[in-house]
Amino acid sequence: MRLSLRFVVPLLVALGIFAYAALPLVDRLMLRWLSRDLEVRSSQIAKTAEDPLRNLVQSGSPDHIPQLLARITRDERLLAVAFCPAGSADAIATPTLPVELRCSDLDRFADPPNDLLQTAAGGGPVYVSVQPVNAGSGVGLGRLVLVHDVSFIARRSSETREYLFFFFVGLGITVALITVVIAQLSWRGWVQGLRALLRGEGLLRPSGKPYVPELQPIARDLRALIRDLGAAPRRPDEDHVAWTPDTLRTLLRGELRGQEVIVVSNREPYIHMRQNGQITVWRPASGLVTALEPVMRACSGTWIAHGGGSADREVVDAHDRIAVPPPPAPPAYHLRRVWLTEQQEAGYYYGFANEGLWPLCHIAHVRPTFRTSDWEQYAAANRLFARAVADEARSDDPIVLVHDYHFALLPRLIRESLPEATIITFWHIPWPNPEAFGICPWREEVLDGLLGSSILGFHTQFHCNNFLDTIERLIEARVDREMFTVSYRGELTAVKRYPISIDWPAPRAATAVPVEQCRAAVRQRHGLPEGHAIGIGVDRLDYTKGVEERLRAIERLFELQPEWLGKFTFVQLAAPTRTRIEHYQQYQARVEALAARINERFKHAAYPAVILRIDHHEPESVYEYYRGADVCVVTSLHDGMNLVSKEFVAARDDNAGVLILSQFTGASRELPEAIIVNPYDTDQCAAALQLALTMPKEEQRARMRLMRELIKEFNVYRWAGRMLRDAAGMRRRGRISHSMVAAARAAL
Ligand code: G6P
Repeated sequence: MRLSLRFVVPLLVALGIFAYAALPLVDRLMLRWLSRDLEVRSSQIAKTAEDPLRNLVQSGSPDHIPQLLARITRDERLLAVAFCPAGSADAIATPTLPVELRCSDLDRFADPPNDLLQTAAGGGPVYVSVQPVNAGSGVGLGRLVLVHDVSFIARRSSETREYLFFFFVGLGITVALITVVIAQLSWRGWVQGLRALLRGEGLLRPSGKPYVPELQPIARDLRALIRDLGAAPRRPDEDHVAWTPDTLRTLLRGELRGQEVIVVSNREPYIHMRQNGQITVWRPASGLVTALEPVMRACSGTWIAHGGGSADREVVDAHDRIAVPPPPAPPAYHLRRVWLTEQQEAGYYYGFANEGLWPLCHIAHVRPTFRTSDWEQYAAANRLFARAVADEARSDDPIVLVHDYHFALLPRLIRESLPEATIITFWHIPWPNPEAFGICPWREEVLDGLLGSSILGFHTQFHCNNFLDTIERLIEARVDREMFTVSYRGELTAVKRYPISIDWPAPRAATAVPVEQCRAAVRQRHGLPEGHAIGIGVDRLDYTKGVEERLRAIERLFELQPEWLGKFTFVQLAAPTRTRIEHYQQYQARVEALAARINERFKHAAYPAVILRIDHHEPESVYEYYRGADVCVVTSLHDGMNLVSKEFVAARDDNAGVLILSQFTGASRELPEAIIVNPYDTDQCAAALQLALTMPKEEQRARMRLMRELIKEFNVYRWAGRMLRDAAGMRRRGRISHSMVAAARAAL
C-alpha cells in the first residue's frame, strides 16, 4: 500500500495544480469566444438599424428614435440600446441603459474584453458594443451602443468549472487506479522473481519466461549475496575440526539457538522385553540406531519410534515417554513410543516398507510385493507418526530428522502441520534408478511425500543422482543439477550426500578388554585352540547381506587352500530380522542348510569350518568378536553404507585385522584400504580370504591406520553436524528471504 501511495499522491498533487492553473484559462477562453459572438451579433443589429435611424435623423423626427430603440431591445433581446449622435454628448437611449454609460466615454469599449462593464446597480456584468452609424458616403451619423446582459456568462463559467472539476477528479481516479494495478502487477512479478531466486530457481517461470526481465542482470549478484548472508560463519579450519559430542552441542546451542531436535525412526534405540518374568533392555541390530543413538545423547531432544517390545508399554509414562538411556547411564533424551496395531504393523512395516520398498531399493534379486492394503496401513502409520511429531513439537519451527524408508510420506505430513519446521529426511538405504523405482504403484505419492523435506540425504552421490533422475522422469518438478535442489510445489528441497558413520572413539574403547583377552575369550567360547584363525561376519539375517555368497567363498577357500582346514573357522553372527516375511524365513533356512552342508563336507577337519549363531547379540559381545577376529567379512549385495565395516575398524585400536568389503556398499567408497570384493565372484572372495589370512602384520597396520584415520575424522558427529549446519544455513536464508518478501509485501 505504501508503495502505491508513493505513486498516487504525487500524481494527484500534479493533477490538482494543473486543474488550478487551467480553470482561469478556460474562463478567459470562453469569454473571448462569447465576446466574438456578441460583437458579430451587435454589428448585424447595427447594420439592420442603420437605415431606419438615418431616415429618422435626416427626416428630422428624432423623437421617434426611442421607439425604434425600444423595438430593437425587444426584438433582439438586448438589455439596453442607446444612440449617440455625432457631436452630441447626450444619448438617446432606452430607460434600461446603465447610468455608467455616457456618450463621451465610449472609447474604452473599443477592444474586447474591455467591453465588459460591471453595472453599479448590481445587476451583474453587461457587454457593451459600440457600432458606428453612417449617413452614407462615409459620413458618420453617430454611434449605436448595444448593451447585452451577460450574466449567463457567469452562470456558464461556474458550470464549466464544475464540469472541469469532475473531469479532473475522474481523470485522477482513473490514472491512480491504472497506476496502482500496474504497480501491483509489476511488484508481484518482482516478489515472485525474488522468491524464485531465493529458492535457487533463477528468474524463469515454469513456462520458461522470465518473471521480471529487469531483475535478470542482478540475479547472480543477489543469489551470491543471500548465500553469503545465509552461510554459516565458518572457521578457517572448519573441515579439519575434530567432531565430538561437544562440537555438536556447541553447534546446536550456537547456530541453532538451542532449537529442539525431534528424531523419527521406526526402530527404537531401546527395546523393553519381558523374559522369564523380568524386564530386560535390548539394543536392536540396526545401523540406523547405532549411528543415531550417540547423536541423540549429544543433542538431547525427543526420539519418536515404534514401541515394538513386549514390555514397552509397561515402562512409559502417561505421555508414552521414557527417559533414556536406561540406568545406570544418566538419561540424555526422551524416547516417545508410538503404538501400532498388529494390522498396522503388518501392512506398514512388514508389508509396504519391507516387502515393497526394501527390495525395490536394493539390487538383491528379490521381487518387491506391493499390496493396496499395505499401502493404506503405511499411509495410516505415517499419519500416526505425524501426529506424534506435532504433539512433541514445542515450537512452530522445530528441527525434525525423519529416518528411512518407513516414512516416505511423513515429511509432507509434517510440513502440513508445522509449515515452519526444518525437516531433514535421511534415506539410509540405496535409491534405485528411475526404471526400477517406477515399479512402485504409489511412486508419485512417495516422491511427493519426500519432497516435503527441507533437506533429503543419501549416503552416496550415486544415490542422490538416482533420486534426481527419478524426479525428472516421474513428476513435474524443477531439478537444479548445479545446486542439487528440487523445486516442487513452490518449495525447495536440497538433495545432499551425507555419508553416515559411527561414534568415535568407539564407546567401549575406554573400558575395552585387551585384544589378546578378546582373542582368547572368543576361541574359548567356541572350543578353538589358541592361534586358531577366526573370520567374523556380523549381520542381520537379511538377503541383501550376501551371507550365502560369503559362506560359498569360505567353502571355496577350503577347496583351493585345504591347509586352512582345522586352522581357520568362520563365525557368522546373524541377528534374526523381519521373521514374519516369507523371503526372510526362506533365507534363514537356506543359510542354515548351507552352513550345515559346508561343515558336513569338511567334517574330517579338527575344527568346524563355519559357526553360525542366529541370535540377538548385544553390542558388547559383538565388540569382543571384532577384537578377537583376524578378518571381518562384509559381502552385502547392496548396502546404503554398512556400519559393520566401520565398527570393526573402530574396534581395532591394535591396528591389526583385515577387512574384506563388498564393492556394493557405500562404505567401500570411503575405505579403499579394505580388500574390496565383488560378492558374486566366489573365487575372488576366496582369494581375498587367502590374502587376508596371510597378510603381513605391517601391511595390516598400514591399512588399518588409514581406515581408522578416516573414521575418526568422518565420524557420526560430523555426519549429524553437517546436516544440522546445513539446516541452520537454510533457516538463516529462510529468515532473510521471509523478511525480504515481508518488506516487499508491506511496501505494497
Ligand atoms: C536397515 C534400515 C534401518 C533398520 C535396520 C534394521 O539398516 O535402514 O531402518 O532399522 O535395517 O531393520 P529392522 O527392520 O529390524 O528395524
